[in-house]
Amino acid sequence: MAEEKSSTTNPKESYPSFSLSNLTQSDLGLGLFGFPEKPLPPPPPCVEVDPSEEPPIALSNADPVVINESLTLYKGRVNTSDVFGVTNSDLVPGKYEGGLKLWEGSLDLVKTVYSEVEKGRLVLKGKRVLELGCGHGLPGIFTGREGAALIHFQDFNAEVLKYLTIPNVKENLMKDTSVSPFVRFFAGDWSEIHKLLLSGNIDQQKETDETLGSEYDGYDLILMAETVYALSSLSNLYVLIKKCLHYPRGVVYMAGKKHYFGVGGGTRQFVHLVEEDGAMEACLLAEVADGSSNVREVWKFSFK
Ligand SMILES: C[S@@+](CC[C@H](N)C(=O)[O-])C[C@H]1O[C@@H](n2cnc3c(N)ncnc32)[C@H](O)[C@@H]1O
Repeated sequence: MAEEKSSTTNPKESYPSFSLSNLTQSDLGLGLFGFPEKPLPPPPPCVEVDPSEEPPIALSNADPVVINESLTLYKGRVNTSDVFGVTNSDLVPGKYEGGLKLWEGSLDLVKTVYSEVEKGRLVLKGKRVLELGCGHGLPGIFTGREGAALIHFQDFNAEVLKYLTIPNVKENLMKDTSVSPFVRFFAGDWSEIHKLLLSGNIDQQKETDETLGSEYDGYDLILMAETVYALSSLSNLYVLIKKCLHYPRGVVYMAGKKHYFGVGGGTRQFVHLVEEDGAMEACLLAEVADGSSNVREVWKFSFK
């Protein structure tokens, strides 16, 4: 799989896309037809990561990511060998799920959410946001800059939150800025993380309830980029979304590849699952065919 390129201010820099150039089906724990061959190791425990904890390796600098002429975000860089002891690895299924890289979909997601706000179709001010599979956390960070009241960042790996997401949040949201959303960071598998997200919400929700004058009963907005590559986790992801999203007004924005070759997942597989369940409707907002990867899409889901 392509290694992340060294970053500069060039807005045209390319970001990694899933290909299975360095990974075999057996590396992914997949047998014939992409069905799991061997059980994955038990997932790491669900934990909340305290932002005051200093990461053992400091980010040496934060590179600008130019979204458009009026929006630049900053991303840190940490490598997989320092954090996980694996070199040039995009995924170690069940152990490390790719969060240390900035994937193309997260920039597609920021651009689409930006455009929704510009067109007056989405208001972020005062909203409660959850970013699932956040990695760098740029989409969640963007909502904070646009006035979201609360942002919860979730990643499979606590290390990703500690080494990368939290430093990025500090860089983008806590330096010279008038916005100060409540932020929290949660690590763990989608099959279990609802326990922490739902109970972890309570104290902070009281504070935001007072600020917003409304009672918490779910996130207003769930964002996720490049989270639908593994067929085996799609249904846990969808169940989690339904548990955590405010009914009926919550919305989900999802960016990803139409199809992830070799691993079987993709945006269309997830849309299929949502449509089969029938509780939510799906709307295609953007299609990106810029040649840097196979076709990417951004979808919006809302309750019927
Ligand atoms: C390819 S990375 C994408 C990171 C980031 N959203 C981006 O686009 O740059 C996939 C992310 O999904 C999350 N993820 C994948 N499988 C997961 C699972 N079973 N439970 C929880 N999180 C998972 C990981 O946290 C990982 O950071």
